[in-house]
Amino acid sequence: MPAPMAEVAGKTAFVTGGANGIGLGIATALVKAGANVVLADIREASLAEARKSLAADDRVDTVVLDVTDRTGFARAADAAEKRFGKVHMLIGNAGIGIGGQVSDATYDDWDWGMGVNFGGVVNGLVTFLPRIKAHGEGGQIVSTASKAALVPIPNASIYIAAKAAILGLSESIRSELAAFNIGVSAFCPGPVQSSISRSGELRPEKYQANSGYRAFEQRLSERPVSPLWMTMEEVGERVLAGIRRNDLYIITHPEFRDGTRRHFDAILAAFPDEPIDEARKEAIAFLLSNRVFDETLAKGAPDYKRR
Ligand SMILES: NC(=O)c1ccc[n+]([C@@H]2O[C@H](COP(=O)([O-])OP(=O)(O)OC[C@H]3O[C@@H](n4cnc5c(N)ncnc54)[C@H](O)[C@@H]3O)[C@@H](O)[C@H]2O)c1
Repeated sequence: MPAPMAEVAGKTAFVTGGANGIGLGIATALVKAGANVVLADIREASLAEARKSLAADDRVDTVVLDVTDRTGFARAADAAEKRFGKVHMLIGNAGIGIGGQVSDATYDDWDWGMGVNFGGVVNGLVTFLPRIKAHGEGGQIVSTASKAALVPIPNASIYIAAKAAILGLSESIRSELAAFNIGVSAFCPGPVQSSISRSGELRPEKYQANSGYRAFEQRLSERPVSPLWMTMEEVGERVLAGIRRNDLYIITHPEFRDGTRRHFDAILAAFPDEPIDEARKEAIAFLLSNRVFDETLAKGAPDYKRR
């Protein structure tokens, strides 16, 4: 399908978690390309700084939003539409670093981690999808998953459950939304220089007393940011390129290709080596593939570095 947002100038993006890190990197690239951007974030002070850094006041707005707050999401969407008319791109990016051994995880850890990292994406989708469909100008739903969805590793169960859910969600809705000229991208970055190590300070009070992960969050807050990790500006440009191409997968780091191949090879190796039941195959034909894979394969590898 042709890319609905091949030209982003004059279009509007709503970026959750837009006040720092990757979200701000995406916003920076979009603003440079002529889009209007609404930054939505739980951190009010960071929003003010981010807005200043974008230096394009006529095309930038900010809104304080906790992505787990569904009524707040609807209010934020109303405000975005009041300011810019229509929202075309939803960048569901707000997220927290949450990790540790699964045996230490309590319900409160699961509820916070899934509530923000997956629930936030769902709340954005449910809020904005009818609005984007209604204006009929097409759009793009970009949701920030992670390389962790491609190469799941231990000690990150909640984080990976949420990110894998985003990947599956994006793959499932892509062909449905193509009918409305709305593209869908699962964005899977590798390590990026950001504020994610400070996630523990955002843990709501109600999830503090019974958490098994406070020690992890303390250690995470002391983790230095490596200069080898990608910058938010570079990542932002890659996401913009992925939006313009309407890529199903927006992947930043080639370093994760081999691990991803190994992952899928391991799954393929687990299939029973038995003859296919042709009658059964015919009866379940609609379950056996998804044309979005064929489309992606036909497009080939992107060149996100080309400007
Ligand atoms: N940095 C990485 O290496 C990396 C790698 C893969 C995926 N990611 C994902 O990228 C996304 C952005 O993370 P980042 O690394 O830029 O971190 P970051 O902390 O710099 O930015 C995340 C932003 O989300 C906001 N946020 C957190 N909880 C929120 C909530 N409940 N409601 C609204 N806003 C909230 C934070 O205030 C922050 O501004 C996350 O989804 C993260 O899981 C990051």
